[in-house]
Amino acid sequence: MADLAELEQKIIGLIATADDLGVLESIRIDALGKKGEISLLLKTLGKMQAEERKTFGAAVNQLKGRINQALATRKTALEDEVLDKRLATETLDVTLPVQADPSHQGRLHPLSQVWEEVTAIFADMGFTIADGPHIETDFYNFTALNIPPHHPARQEHDTFYFAPDAEGNRKVLRTQTSNVQIRTMENQEPPIRIVAPGRTYRCDSDLTHTPQFHQIEALVIDKVTTLGHLKGTLEEFFKAFFEVDDLKIRFRSNHFPFTEISYEVDISYSRVGNKIVIGDGEEWLEILGSGMVHPNVLRNCGLDPDVYQGFAFGMGIDRIAMLKYGIPDLRAFFDADLRWIEHYGFTPFDIPSLAGGLSR
Ligand code: DAH
Repeated sequence: MADLAELEQKIIGLIATADDLGVLESIRIDALGKKGEISLLLKTLGKMQAEERKTFGAAVNQLKGRINQALATRKTALEDEVLDKRLATETLDVTLPVQADPSHQGRLHPLSQVWEEVTAIFADMGFTIADGPHIETDFYNFTALNIPPHHPARQEHDTFYFAPDAEGNRKVLRTQTSNVQIRTMENQEPPIRIVAPGRTYRCDSDLTHTPQFHQIEALVIDKVTTLGHLKGTLEEFFKAFFEVDDLKIRFRSNHFPFTEISYEVDISYSRVGNKIVIGDGEEWLEILGSGMVHPNVLRNCGLDPDVYQGFAFGMGIDRIAMLKYGIPDLRAFFDADLRWIEHYGFTPFDIPSLAGGLSR
């Protein structure tokens, strides 16, 4: 029996110090394998007396049980150690590679950029942004703007007409953003100070015209509104938009049905080589139409021209975008050519503002 206790101590000691699964397995074989020490002990039972066999057999079997238990416990501990080691050293990267600089992937169309720049400038001056329907009635696109049926100005507009309704009225695709003037005055008490950037449509297509283009309309109505206000507003706007300190503007007498007095406005520029540089210079570039709102237009909107006056102007967003960014061909705006957008486009994360800079 003393042998058994010694044997147990030896084997349990070996198990406790086994430091890998291979060593542990050879300890198991040495103890419990076919020719292992415990198995050999069991083989001696046959030669024993019945009584001795009983007690010795039971003792060896219990020993075998305890060794098995110790082996199992040690095995689990070693397996855990192996797993912990793997977890500590092996890594699996489940992330996707980040693109070098995603902010340089997408591009904002120059028209969207200029649209944002223009609205940022006017918003800073205290104008609110307004819009109106693109499919418009004849009244809002023409009649209320002092362009009655058969007025010659209608011919200049190359209007897209819809099929007449049951009463014979034909809707139009608005030919100008001036329709927003009427809708604003109908719905809002003066003082009014709005700009309306938007899409406009005319049945015209050549080097300098596309059937769909963009305008921005401005309308200011108050009890005292003068040409001085118009001039100051335009000067401020063009300096901010073209990002120059100095620039002259010139009013040339003109005719628009919805203004009385009416002007076409030019801005100064100089030619450097074959480039146009907007800013103080000796040459003039026609840029927009403007004037003091016609008393008939005020009356059409229910305003008394003896109480209220105002000014209005309208200009092409496409045109000022081409001038500012040196884009020679208007039609390219509508080609959806990615190479062109990459060349002329803007990063969508640089939101234009007067404080932070419009384009740089
Ligand atoms: N609606 C004019 C056009 O499409 C532009 C215009 C000129 C608008 C004079 C105005 C203005 O408000 O006063 O050609």
